[in-house]
Amino acid sequence: MLTEDDIRNALKSVKYPGYSRDIVSFGLVKQIAATNGAVSISLQVTANNPEVAQQIKSETERVLRDVPGVNKVYVQVNQPNAPQPAAPQSPWAQQNKVAGIHRIVAVASGKGGVGKSTLSVNLACALQHLGAKVGLLDCDIYGPSIPLMMGLNQRPTVSDAQKMVPPSKYGVKLMSMGFLLDGDQPVIWRGPMIVKTIQQFITAVEWGELDFLLVDLPPGTGDAQLTLCQTVPLDGGVIVTTPQEASLGVVRKGIAMFQKVNVPILGIVENMSYYTTPSGERVEIFGHGGGQAEAERQNVAFLGEVPLFIQIRESGDRGVPVVVSAPDQAPGQAFLKIAQALRHQLAD
Ligand SMILES: Nc1ncnc2c1ncn2[C@@H]1O[C@H](COP(=O)(O)OP(=O)(O)OP(=O)(O)O)[C@@H](O)[C@H]1O
Ligand SMILES: [Mg+2]
Repeated sequence: MLTEDDIRNALKSVKYPGYSRDIVSFGLVKQIAATNGAVSISLQVTANNPEVAQQIKSETERVLRDVPGVNKVYVQVNQPNAPQPAAPQSPWAQQNKVAGIHRIVAVASGKGGVGKSTLSVNLACALQHLGAKVGLLDCDIYGPSIPLMMGLNQRPTVSDAQKMVPPSKYGVKLMSMGFLLDGDQPVIWRGPMIVKTIQQFITAVEWGELDFLLVDLPPGTGDAQLTLCQTVPLDGGVIVTTPQEASLGVVRKGIAMFQKVNVPILGIVENMSYYTTPSGERVEIFGHGGGQAEAERQNVAFLGEVPLFIQIRESGDRGVPVVVSAPDQAPGQAFLKIAQALRHQLAD
């Protein structure tokens, strides 16, 4: 009796033209069928060259005819007939969508304290200001800042369907570990618990219809962040940097993290770009333009810059984001411009 394995073993003597490796090890053999001595093989060749396909076909037929017990051979070679366009599909085509949520975007940075949470909060409010339905998910389990910055600390209620109903503030739906903890009790969970919690933040929360769900990631680009990026079905990532860190290569770590999990990079935001003194003098405390320069080097979009403003820090502490308290002034405008650039990057 002729088995599939007999056929496969025989095919190992068919070399790929010009290579010492065989077609089995290259993974070209897609289907093998053998009945009553009739063998049918389907091969997938990625090269466009018809000569290569022809050589593989005739060599495969020759080898198979020599296998004892084979009396009929049929070899089909599939080949792309035209050169493949580089990216025929949207990069998001493969994503596992969450029903009702159009786009999930993570805000990350290589280092802590560069303004991820400040950007997440203001971007969420800015997108809402521009007319979008927005949710904001705080994935910083150990140091959630969204409740403080949005001025809300409220336990979510539970719906009839036994799902958590996210409380809203300034028209943005919110979920944070901070809402579920009592007071300042520290979180001492281990990795798997965190992954489970974050999964529930996506699937067991009634987000409803959202144009954007923004995700504020904890600082860093280590394993924990990587796991989060895999846990949440992200459509894209935004990287926040200070001008100085951009030049130190921290941005590249953030880009590498998203690339590892196949999440498209939507762009870089430079925060704390410069400071304008009350007399109008511009001081570039951390340098300036590092974010833009790095974006160009890495061939990703530059979404915009946010100068240092006392109002941004104060309003964060007060729980009223600048985009909400003063959308027409410079600090709020900076975030609104970034929101527009982000929307542009995510346009269908
Ligand atoms: N452009 C800005 N102007 C003034 N203050 C800012 C600006 N951006 C951020 N800050 C302040 O810097 C501090 C750190 O910002 P934030 O908490 O957003 O950073 P983070 O990257 O989320 O930090 P962590 O890594 O701890 O999560 C906050 O007090 C915030 O108000
Ligand atoms: Mg933060």
